[in-house]
Amino acid sequence: MALKLPYYFLILFSIFHHTGCDEHNHIYDNSDEVVVWMNTVGPYHNRQETYEYFSLPFCGGPKESISHYHETLGEALLGVELQFSGLDIDFKVEVKKTEYCTVELTEEKYQAFVYAVKNHYWYQMYIDDLPVWGIVGEIGEGGETYYIWTHKKFDIGFNGKQIVDVNLTSESKVKLEPKIKLTFTYQVKWIPSSIKFADRFDKYLDPSFFQHRIHWFSIFNSFMMVIFLVGLVSMILMRTLRKDYARYSREEDLDDMEKDLGDEYGWKQVHGDVFRPASHPMLFSALVGTGYHIGVVATCVISFAILGELYTERGSLLSTAIFVYAATAPVNGYFGGSLYARMGGKVWIKQMMLSAFLLPILVCGTAFFINFIAIYYHASRAIPFGTMVAITCICLFVILPLTLVGTVLGRNLAGQPNYPCRINAVPRPIPEKKWFMEPAVIIILGGVLPFGSIFIEMYFIFTSFWAYKIYYVYGFMLLVFLILAIVTICVTIVCTYFLLNAEDYRWQWTSFLAGASTSSYVYLYSFYYFFFKTKMYGLFQTTFYFGYMALFSLALGIMCGTFGIRSVSDIAWCKVVVCENVAIERAYSCRRKAIKNVRRSCSQWPCSFDNTRNVINGHGLARMVDIPVINGSVCVLLQWSIDRYVQRL
Ligand SMILES: *[C@@H]1O[C@H](CO)[C@@H](O)[C@H](O)[C@H]1NC(C)=O
Repeated sequence: MALKLPYYFLILFSIFHHTGCDEHNHIYDNSDEVVVWMNTVGPYHNRQETYEYFSLPFCGGPKESISHYHETLGEALLGVELQFSGLDIDFKVEVKKTEYCTVELTEEKYQAFVYAVKNHYWYQMYIDDLPVWGIVGEIGEGGETYYIWTHKKFDIGFNGKQIVDVNLTSESKVKLEPKIKLTFTYQVKWIPSSIKFADRFDKYLDPSFFQHRIHWFSIFNSFMMVIFLVGLVSMILMRTLRKDYARYSREEDLDDMEKDLGDEYGWKQVHGDVFRPASHPMLFSALVGTGYHIGVVATCVISFAILGELYTERGSLLSTAIFVYAATAPVNGYFGGSLYARMGGKVWIKQMMLSAFLLPILVCGTAFFINFIAIYYHASRAIPFGTMVAITCICLFVILPLTLVGTVLGRNLAGQPNYPCRINAVPRPIPEKKWFMEPAVIIILGGVLPFGSIFIEMYFIFTSFWAYKIYYVYGFMLLVFLILAIVTICVTIVCTYFLLNAEDYRWQWTSFLAGASTSSYVYLYSFYYFFFKTKMYGLFQTTFYFGYMALFSLALGIMCGTFGIRSVSDIAWCKVVVCENVAIERAYSCRRKAIKNVRRSCSQWPCSFDNTRNVINGHGLARMVDIPVINGSVCVLLQWSIDRYVQRL
């Protein structure tokens, strides 16, 4: 029920129209009409380059045409173009080989068919929502002659009152020659089948492809990487912390009066700058907001896909994604808006607009550009005007208001900067450092491991989208998604650690981009995939491929960047590591000052120094850390108590 909700919602935008047959409940009585929808035809190697079936000079059957099928939003965007075939098929009624139409091959029609056969065109039909594929023709030996299949033999399997299996066999090869008459025939056989209705899509899935050893291996591999990285990160954190503790206690023993100044090093040098707002705060917060949004949508859609078998309904995955994207727009507003407020941004309406429309504009811009080419090609992928209006309406009347709600909430609930360190008035100059500590290098290296953990899954995802596979192993996808998140988080923490250690406080953009750089590797990989794994050709398919791959990579990048920034921003990294270290450092330096004073006092007073030490040591390191003391309040406190102690003596 919950899964159906998106469709009811989308009905608002695409007037759904019942065609009066039984393919909506999939239950047929004897001799009920079974509709054969012709979908698209196109070159085998270019899966996305599809044209209406009747753009080739095929002819339809004698049966009166049912009104055009009204598609859902997802179908319209995917270029589904269902048209009635005119074939007369009734449930459980056998049809002997029957002629249904004749085409006289004029020169023009002849050329069209030859072109289609030459380019391995094949067509797709739907019978009771089951996809059926057939090939247009065949190239004769020597490549000089072209044949077309003129007979369609349907073997339809039924189980009770339901259709559970359809096989199409093409027969009767006819040599293509100008000015001949082509007669098309069809035949229908009904065969009882034991396949359950719920399992009827199983034959389109390819378990041997998706559950190949390499798939399991890659998951295992990534899993190992996660363990390694988590180990590495915790080691770095522990080692640095332990080293610091060790250093402090050692220095305590050294009677070095001059240690008070100038002994901060590495990241602690930049504590006054780490919370300096990022440059371009508006764009930055819009990207982060969008990243949260994409992350939430990805999680929801993958979960829906695991729960409901979305691949059985045309375009339903896309429709669901659009619905979830629109419905979760407050997430975008909340995180983007609150981050912007914390960075002291003032023009929040502009920021909200940018946040709300960043991704839609990127997507629509790409789609619009590709649409031009699609229209030029008369491809069925050309997005209908009505659909464009629907999408615009969703953006303006659903996404924008919801983003506004989120932004207002975010600014009010989480818009206060609660940084544990003060920001210095004057930015610290960034010292010269080794080339591999430069942000650009860190960013480029940051993407390598996350990409390494997902690229095999990328192959499967690409193949299911760009070739004729139906992706159904969403459990794998969820696992890889989690692995990607964890690896990105760990890598970004390490990257930020190195950056801050090099006394470079520009960690916001660097950690965002270090996470996001995964996507540039994905995009590079898509080039490899295009040239070595597919046989796509032609302007349309190439533009389509690279356009949407760029978009996919970009969205992935924004999401991974947000994973990265999430991991290092206030909660996890800076507060705990940078600032508490600063706090410890301060506490220690106060303590040293205090000890020094006590020693000075002790040289005049007859007191035991050890005693004094115990007083301070009794509070211990642990206590020092959790006293919420910054700005030297501990110093005052300690000073005061020690002074009193000394005086009492
Ligand atoms: C369709 O073809 C498959 C594989 O050849 C076969 O197992 C199945 O029984 C056929 N179905 C029908 C309805 O003929």
